[in-house]
Amino acid sequence: MSNFNYINEILHIDNVSALDIEKKCKTPVYVYSESRLINNFKKLEDALTSKLGENHPKLIAYSVKANSNIAVINVLNKLNSGADVVSSGELKRAIKAGIQSERIVFSGVGKTADELFLALQSNVLQFNLESIEELEKLSEIAVENNMMAPIAFRINPDIDAGGHEKIATGGSNTKFGIPFSQALESYNYAKTLSGIKIVGIDIHIGSQITELDPFELAFNKVVLLYNTLITAGHNIENIDLGGGIGVSYDKTISTFSLDEYASLVKKKFGSIDCKLIFEPGRYIAADAGILLTKVIRNKESYDNCFIVVDAAMNDILRPALYDAKHEVISVKEINKNKEFVDYQIVGPICETGDILNKKVYLNSIKEGDLLAIKHAGAYGAVMSSQYNSRDLIPEIIVANNNINIIRKRITIEDFLSYESIPE
Ligand SMILES: Cc1ncc(COP(=O)(O)O)c(C=O)c1O
Repeated sequence: MSNFNYINEILHIDNVSALDIEKKCKTPVYVYSESRLINNFKKLEDALTSKLGENHPKLIAYSVKANSNIAVINVLNKLNSGADVVSSGELKRAIKAGIQSERIVFSGVGKTADELFLALQSNVLQFNLESIEELEKLSEIAVENNMMAPIAFRINPDIDAGGHEKIATGGSNTKFGIPFSQALESYNYAKTLSGIKIVGIDIHIGSQITELDPFELAFNKVVLLYNTLITAGHNIENIDLGGGIGVSYDKTISTFSLDEYASLVKKKFGSIDCKLIFEPGRYIAADAGILLTKVIRNKESYDNCFIVVDAAMNDILRPALYDAKHEVISVKEINKNKEFVDYQIVGPICETGDILNKKVYLNSIKEGDLLAIKHAGAYGAVMSSQYNSRDLIPEIIVANNNINIIRKRITIEDFLSYESIPE
């Protein structure tokens, strides 16, 4: 069941009216549903448990980059989620939200020495390493501090995961991971370094993957590598399968089911005695959030009917960055008997690319009306900026039908207080 429904012709988030949210927080504002986050997490966990069995060790390590608000991470922490983090900032957020360090994996292609040290001190479960150079740096830091760093290499399997090129990470022309062909020699070398303890294998081939085939190809390579490493005498306790589960942003996008994904995992790894780690981000958070925005004005120019709203590409970058399609709906239910107009929803930023949706069929939309941009819970607020000297907009979560402000609006006055003119 959706957590975003019309009740008496007004969009509600769970049982809270979008109009009440606007009254309390003004627009634009990100709105998340706690119960949707919980349901999403549980659905994935249940699908995996039902295929793999209760006893197969696993860890769902929510990928914090998708939505890093500590309130969101905390909701997942209460469900025993772990965290996948890619910076010391995300590590600090995960810890602040209550995630125990032994449930945290540290990924990312450019971890600095300071970040490696912080994660080492924090006792994270595993470092997902991206290069030999990073391995050597980590070993050096671990030895200096008399510690052992648990590591996995992120393997780049050279697989085209489909989807947008800017979020495909498993190809040979991307910066991610070490080549599959160099994996064995990399593990052999890692074993010779003091301060390094090999614990796993890691892979992440991309995001918003809507077909199972790329996963199957990648998983085959992981199994092959696992067998090779075990034969060579390496210790592999964890297999991290990354994130990437796609979501249906609109009716034109169909995706595999969680059951199908879990069956594939079972088929490939069910008989391997390792903890399986999953790093879902988008799947957990995307459809748990909307971006609520207000119409500033209607504008017609040549053959175009524009609706200029108060949200813009600085608040939600995905349409401009990835040509991502986010459905836009009216907070007041549309009268389906009236003729529909083909609108372009645009923001106030001085960029031609500040288009939130190129084609939205609505009717009777006028100044002051509220619209909701759907599936905005993942890679939304985290990518926002203050471009054009706009505010960083607030985030709220609806929990038990209460409106909770989980990030206050950060205003131009706040930003100005960090700037100064030299004397
Ligand atoms: C290493 C890693 N793990 C997990 C994820 C989460 O991916 P998704 O949000 O598609 O599940 C990402 C995002 O691209 C990532 O880079």
